[in-house]
Amino acid sequence: MLVKTFGSAIHGIDAIIITIEVNISQGKKFYLVGLPDNAVKESHHRLVAVINNIGNKFPRRRIVINMAPADIKKEGSAYDLPIAIAILAASEQISNHRLNDFVMMGELSLDGSIKRVKGALSMALKAKEDNFIGIIVPLENVMEAAIVEGIDVYGFSHITEVMAMLNNDTKDGLVELNADDQLLKLNTYTFDFEDVKGQENIKRALEIAAAGGHNVIMIGPPGSGKTMLAKRLPSILPPMSIEEALETTKIHSVAGLLPSDSSLVSARPYRSPHHTISDAGLVGGGTYPQPGEISLAQNGVLFLDELPEFKRSVLEVMRQPMEDRIVTISRARVTVDYPASFMLVAAMNPCPCGYYNHPDKDCVCSPGIVKSYLNKISGPLMDRIDLHVEVTPVPFSELADTKAGVKSEIVRQRVIKAGKIQEFRFKDQKNIHNNAQMSTKDLSIYCQLDESGRNLLKIAMEKLSLSARAYDRIIKVSRTIADLDSSEFIKTEHLAEAIQYRSLDRENWGQ
Ligand SMILES: Nc1ncnc2c1ncn2[C@@H]1O[C@H](COP(=O)(O)OP(=O)(O)OP(=O)(O)O)[C@@H](O)[C@H]1O
Ligand SMILES: [Mg+2]
Ligand SMILES: [Zn+2]
Repeated sequence: MLVKTFGSAIHGIDAIIITIEVNISQGKKFYLVGLPDNAVKESHHRLVAVINNIGNKFPRRRIVINMAPADIKKEGSAYDLPIAIAILAASEQISNHRLNDFVMMGELSLDGSIKRVKGALSMALKAKEDNFIGIIVPLENVMEAAIVEGIDVYGFSHITEVMAMLNNDTKDGLVELNADDQLLKLNTYTFDFEDVKGQENIKRALEIAAAGGHNVIMIGPPGSGKTMLAKRLPSILPPMSIEEALETTKIHSVAGLLPSDSSLVSARPYRSPHHTISDAGLVGGGTYPQPGEISLAQNGVLFLDELPEFKRSVLEVMRQPMEDRIVTISRARVTVDYPASFMLVAAMNPCPCGYYNHPDKDCVCSPGIVKSYLNKISGPLMDRIDLHVEVTPVPFSELADTKAGVKSEIVRQRVIKAGKIQEFRFKDQKNIHNNAQMSTKDLSIYCQLDESGRNLLKIAMEKLSLSARAYDRIIKVSRTIADLDSSEFIKTEHLAEAIQYRSLDRENWGQ
């Protein structure tokens, strides 16, 4: 008898429906065709054990399994469930009347329990698009899949439960969630700006960065609070829209990183990979392509602490994705794209000993060493960082007395307001959403300076020996400062503030 079930494969962050046909006839052999990898081929032995262990009979007949479309590689053990169900139906041990209604995936343990899979959210989205009535996923994945509305999502922890549901047409295992509720319920942050005492100028700089989507680097001695500040940045960014949350969740789901009790990544991600990370770890890759940190940070913050310690080659591979906001991974058989739209926050000590420019500690590094430390960061990467912020520590004696800072929520409201101005400004521009994304050409359209503004900038460039690349960044940042001030025009005060955020461009840095 011939029976069909449906599973899915992941390509990038999207799912493709895979049809599994099982035909059982006279004879004795087991054939599995349709580009299965070794893990799929080995399912034969697992399935014999599972089906016998749950008290059914693995048919001792000629079994042909065909997985289509044939040109897509079928990887991993997650096809166990749709193959097992198809074999049971083709051998008339369960009813086949609802098999066309569902897409199902799940890895099976030898006792028949169902283990989690990657990409359940993408699978649910695709199944809905293709008009399936429902999907069947491991219980551990049911929360992420159930966020998709308009399709029945069932979660099970054992194959016998799936068999009972298919036989008896029950609604057991059905889970319903409301995406908007989940977004509100889960949209909370552990860290708040109010924990950071003093440092008003740094918080101001981070507010500007958040408002205009600018990448930022913090330079300061050990213990000055750089990591503490970076961790709080997601809490002042605008809340994610449902589209953004789904997109970020898809990436985490495909990477198998969603906790089983979580349905949606609804707080903006904060990723802080260690400086020993590999190219593939940062931008994605591997034999079976997986998203890297820059994609896991999608719609959130990528924090690179101790930036000069990262291998130059690793930072170099980030360049193109930062420009395109997408990363393309090419392998012999496939090319996949992962989104990579994130805000980069970097931190570094000002010199190898850490105390260059420190108010009361002496730096033991020679000027040459300070300069070469800075030069470890590649120019092209520095070109994509709009704000430089020097962090000096709040003296220990003052920490206890200094009053608590302003709450993240208040800062966030200002950031949202400035964001709305930018949304309106760029409403006809498909590829620009915020000030940071403007090109040099856009600057002449959206960032006109008046006479006194141009003069101020000219004097600053000369006096502070700012390099040419500082010029555009200063104008961009001043546009955001003006937006935070609800000012249509860039005023000299906005430019004056923006000029402060280019410390690393001063040609005399390190002297
Ligand atoms: N302004 C501040 N308000 C409250 N606590 C602070 C402040 N600055 C520093 N601290 C305390 O000092 C600790 C060290 O700060 P943090 O780890 O963020 O410093 P850092 O600049 O990242 O240092 P390193 O260069 O060593 O990584 C924080 O965890 C926090 O407890
Ligand atoms: Mg730190
Ligand atoms: Zn030093």
